[in-house]
Amino acid sequence: MASSLRFPLSSSLLILFVIVPICHAQQSFRPKALVIPVSKDAATLQYVTRINQRTPLVPLSLVLDLGGQFLWVDCEQNYVSSTYRPARCNSAQCSLARASGCGDCFSAPRPGCNNNTCGVTPDNTVTRTATSGEVAEDALSVQSTDGSNPGRTVRVSKFLFSCAPTFLLEGLATGVSGMAGLGRTKIAFPSQFASAFSFHRKFAICLSSSTTSNGVVFFGDGPYVLLPNIDASESLAYTPLFINPVSTASAYAQGEPSAEYFIGVKSIRISEKVVAVNATLLSIDSEGFGGTKISTVNPYTVLESSIFNAVTKAFIAEAAARNISRVASVAPFDVCFSSKNVLSTRLGPSVPTIYLVLQNKNVLWSIFGANSMVYISDQDVLCLGFVNGGENPRTSIVIGGYQLENNLLQFDLATSRLGFSSTLLGRRTTCSNFNFTSNP
Ligand SMILES: *[C@@H]1O[C@H](CO)[C@@H](O)[C@H](O)[C@H]1NC(C)=O
Ligand SMILES: *[C@@H]1O[C@H](CO)[C@@H](O)[C@H](O)[C@H]1NC(C)=O
Ligand SMILES: *[C@@H]1O[C@H](CO)[C@@H](O)[C@H](O)[C@H]1NC(C)=O
Ligand SMILES: *[C@@H]1O[C@H](CO)[C@@H](O)[C@H](O)[C@H]1NC(C)=O
Repeated sequence: MASSLRFPLSSSLLILFVIVPICHAQQSFRPKALVIPVSKDAATLQYVTRINQRTPLVPLSLVLDLGGQFLWVDCEQNYVSSTYRPARCNSAQCSLARASGCGDCFSAPRPGCNNNTCGVTPDNTVTRTATSGEVAEDALSVQSTDGSNPGRTVRVSKFLFSCAPTFLLEGLATGVSGMAGLGRTKIAFPSQFASAFSFHRKFAICLSSSTTSNGVVFFGDGPYVLLPNIDASESLAYTPLFINPVSTASAYAQGEPSAEYFIGVKSIRISEKVVAVNATLLSIDSEGFGGTKISTVNPYTVLESSIFNAVTKAFIAEAAARNISRVASVAPFDVCFSSKNVLSTRLGPSVPTIYLVLQNKNVLWSIFGANSMVYISDQDVLCLGFVNGGENPRTSIVIGGYQLENNLLQFDLATSRLGFSSTLLGRRTTCSNFNFTSNP
């Protein structure tokens, strides 16, 4: 927790005289929000963020996992830090982490292997592999922001996370040393940052569509300013977030609610046509099946097969009405079109718009060409960027990364509400337009 928060604000002036000799002045600065960059890895299509951890600080690349439970990092390789502290059995840290076991480690002590510590289940949500890991805390540093530029670097001296063995990195982008979970748990990034700096339990993601320029994640409330001076937090529509009572993650914590973010899609429209979808699939049942979640570890939206078939059929019909003709599929996509007869617009290829209808018919998440069509460059082919999730998947609709790019999404944990912008291209900006040049 931030050392500046050990004292109530009212007494901070008084205390200042006492602590100045031992405490760097920077520690009394309280940020209103934090900012981290996110890049898109060209080889894996994973979204990768960078954060500094340990003493002395080490820059870490981490795969961003919107529904992830917490930060986990490889502690087997190159973990050197004078501020690493394992969480002792039955400590407050263990209960905050909702740690399961309590145990010993039968080899030489090192980060990730200590006696009398509690453990959790770090999870590689890309490959759906889970294992056990020691709960620990260490220093973390991140840049504050006024919403327009990065500001001073601030430090969380005891940031809780889980150690993991090196093999858990398999399937992640090259150079990555773990995953950054932004889920709804008390030890995921949003809650730990909010409690360290006493700001609202809100955060926002804005993923770039480019593999060469950074998108951004903000922790705390807006403004979220993108060049040329557009506060993207002003273009949000809101919809309730739902908690899935049963975790959909591969193995961890049986009986725990899911750390992921679900929204209530009531129906789907293609242009003006309502797609007939089995409504049962759109709600979450008592065993945690069904519903719609948002995911940054799925590169493309995944639809349960009957929904996939209905949506693609309607889309193909609407496209045909515009003389857009279907061509052979290009994996992993089933539905592809000749790019002939498709105009380019500011919102991407001019194709039928897909609408996710939320709590009522006036609250729509609109998916325009830039977020629906994937251009296969060497073939002059455009594919619908949705994939078939088969029958009986755990979750009926998983909105994936491609559909999130250049959309601002704000998650409010206190009120369980999602703010979503639909494409920012319509506002003449993009998610790679945060000005990462620090204010002097
Ligand atoms: C844990 O305790 C056992 C038994 O005392 C000892 O053999 C082992 O080396 C210890 N492990 C660590 C990591 O300290
Ligand atoms: C709708 O989906 C539910 C859940 O998969 C299934 O039990 C039911 O038979 C489906 N209804 C129709 C009409 O297909
Ligand atoms: C589609 O093509 C036909 C035949 O070439 C033409 O008559 C029609 O106007 C076209 N429709 C649209 C929407 O472009
Ligand atoms: C980005 O921010 C820096 C620091 O405030 C400023 O000097 C620069 O002009 C900004 N860049 C643009 C394109 O506005």
